[in-house]
Amino acid sequence: MRAWKCVTWGGPNHLKLGNVPDPECGAGQVEIMVNACGVNFADLLLISGRYQVRPELPFVPGMEVAGRITRVGEGCEMFSVGDKAAAYVKHGGYADRVVAPIAQVVKIPESISFSAAAAFPVSYGSAELALDRAGLSAGEVVVIGGAAGAVGAACVELVKHRGAVVIACVGDSAKEEIARACGADEIVSSRSHNLKTDLQKVASRVDVIIDPIGGSFFEESLQMLGYGGRVVSLGFASGKIPSIRLNHFLVKHQSVVGSSFGLTCVKDPDLISAKWPQLAEMLEAGQINPRVSQIRPFAELPAALQLLKDRKVAGRIVLN
Ligand SMILES: NC(=O)c1ccc[n+]([C@@H]2O[C@H](COP(=O)([O-])OP(=O)(O)OC[C@H]3O[C@@H](n4cnc5c(N)ncnc54)[C@H](OP(=O)(O)O)[C@@H]3O)[C@@H](O)[C@H]2O)c1
Repeated sequence: MRAWKCVTWGGPNHLKLGNVPDPECGAGQVEIMVNACGVNFADLLLISGRYQVRPELPFVPGMEVAGRITRVGEGCEMFSVGDKAAAYVKHGGYADRVVAPIAQVVKIPESISFSAAAAFPVSYGSAELALDRAGLSAGEVVVIGGAAGAVGAACVELVKHRGAVVIACVGDSAKEEIARACGADEIVSSRSHNLKTDLQKVASRVDVIIDPIGGSFFEESLQMLGYGGRVVSLGFASGKIPSIRLNHFLVKHQSVVGSSFGLTCVKDPDLISAKWPQLAEMLEAGQINPRVSQIRPFAELPAALQLLKDRKVAGRIVLN
């Protein structure tokens, strides 16, 4: 089958399009014939050898796919050949076929396009888990970094669904439009040199910070976090991993929690499986809308990843 291969650690242009053997489909797994793949920021980390896992070279990257189920392993009776589905996979997604453990597979309503489906499992799975980790309550004020990115935009929609207030931090006016369409109440610029002052103009307190960025976003937004506030650390898109001074957390009863969708799929697959039916219902009802900004041919993966690297993407790029 056709696949993009990572043969050496590096940037998008190191990837090679070629052929690899079809995957094996074992017990507890289904095979999906891939119609569309979501292009993830974490792919950049994975192919450069800077991700939390380092697969053995060569490997096929790609972690988010949608298509139809073509094979069903033993113990997967809840799925049938022909079902429309989307899945998160550790890697292997930029290929014609992929195999995924069932906890990472969600049935997709027929009314939803393959492109939208391919922008769904990682963004909304990660966002939903992050909000649980935050212990978010209705009425709380939430600052979201990278709020027009794929995960950030999903967080905006799900925070609004839980009845809380969103301050979205975004880099330009096109991204502002996306964040507003997702329901953001206030917008602040991520390019500002004084994020704390900008936050003070729109909120008197912050209860929760959702942080996929790290670096100065973490440091500056933290200064606005109130008594009992929580930070959910999701990633370090800035490339900078912040350090914390615990004294502030002690005095203000604050906490910082990590949230890893990928690792939770492995450590607590039942928790993830339990989330899919409700998220799929919300998708079908139009309560959540994966933001697909561009649909590009499969052959254009390196160009798509480069756009992500250059911070030029709002929502998700999808390949088909
Ligand atoms: N922990 C988890 O469960 C989990 C799951 C999925 C993804 N993630 C992580 O979450 C992050 C976002 O993923 P994504 O797929 O949503 O990516 P994305 O769509 O590219 O969004 C990332 C956002 O980060 C901002 N950004 C990018 N480069 C930056 C830089 N150099 N400095 C400051 N801000 C920068 C951009 O926002 P602006 O330009 O608008 O500021 C961009 O929209 C990544 O770090 C990824 O690894 C974590």
